[in-house]
Amino acid sequence: MDLSQENIERPYAQGGFDADLSALLDKIYSRKGWDFRNYKMSSVRRRVMKRLNARNVSSCADYLAILESDEVEYGKLFSNITIKVSEFFREPEAFAALEDSIAGVFSRCQGLRVWSCGSAYGEEAYTLAIILSEYLSPDALDNTKIFATDIDVSAIDCARKARYREESLRNVSVERKQAYFEEEEGGFKVRFGTRNVVKFGCLDIVSNSPLLKIDILACRNLFIYFNKFLQEEVFRKIDYALNRGGILMLGKAEAIPPSFAHRYDRVVSGTNIYRKRAW
Ligand SMILES: C[S@@+](CC[C@H](N)C(=O)[O-])C[C@H]1O[C@@H](n2cnc3c(N)ncnc32)[C@H](O)[C@@H]1O
Repeated sequence: MDLSQENIERPYAQGGFDADLSALLDKIYSRKGWDFRNYKMSSVRRRVMKRLNARNVSSCADYLAILESDEVEYGKLFSNITIKVSEFFREPEAFAALEDSIAGVFSRCQGLRVWSCGSAYGEEAYTLAIILSEYLSPDALDNTKIFATDIDVSAIDCARKARYREESLRNVSVERKQAYFEEEEGGFKVRFGTRNVVKFGCLDIVSNSPLLKIDILACRNLFIYFNKFLQEEVFRKIDYALNRGGILMLGKAEAIPPSFAHRYDRVVSGTNIYRKRAW
């Protein structure tokens, strides 16, 4: 018998609960357009259970009744499912490798199109802006656009404000902290010059079309929430967005789906930084 925490929390058989959960996800999709139906079931189940427990109900049907009468609950469920953990220079070794890769691929005088897909509160996009400010010539930086998109409009609003608590900057060197951040009460704010390079927008990569003609694409710690089917579907968009010869950065625990792997070469071993083949 499986006595994992998940099973202890649930007073009913997983099969029955998952059928109800699927029905709930269908309802959320038809009501709100948020398509979580192909997110990893184990993760979605845990997140939905959390809300059921918070609202003191034990069935998806009862929870659905709450959703129907309480718009705020929709928002709470949404932010529970779309996990927004991030920080500046998350996995510092990956960003160090990215710096080396960029220098080997793009000239300092070339304007670039960069995309942080699933950008949460903007830490990843501003990290890319810092790296590119240090590599590119001032003219090339002027001609560079970093797009940062996320499904969650409130995260995007927050990202535009560019205010962070000190913990988010634990991987930022003292020199970079001074150069790219202003200290203010309760934390740090990204300086205007760096903020200005990043353009934020709301984009649901499951339902919307991707951006195009991208030279550097970071899509990190997003595929881990998708099932295999959705990983393929979304990767097709990522692949379409990225120029030949462009650089792709995935999260540590993520991999290129097998049907696309032949189109990419890993640039630095031990990291998930790839270059799309030019042919
Ligand atoms: C764990 S965070 C990753 C943040 C950053 N990329 C990093 O690696 O630090 C995952 C982000 O993906 C976003 N997300 C989830 N589903 C999405 C979707 N369908 N389209 C776009 N963003 C999505 C979430 O809102 C969240 O901000």
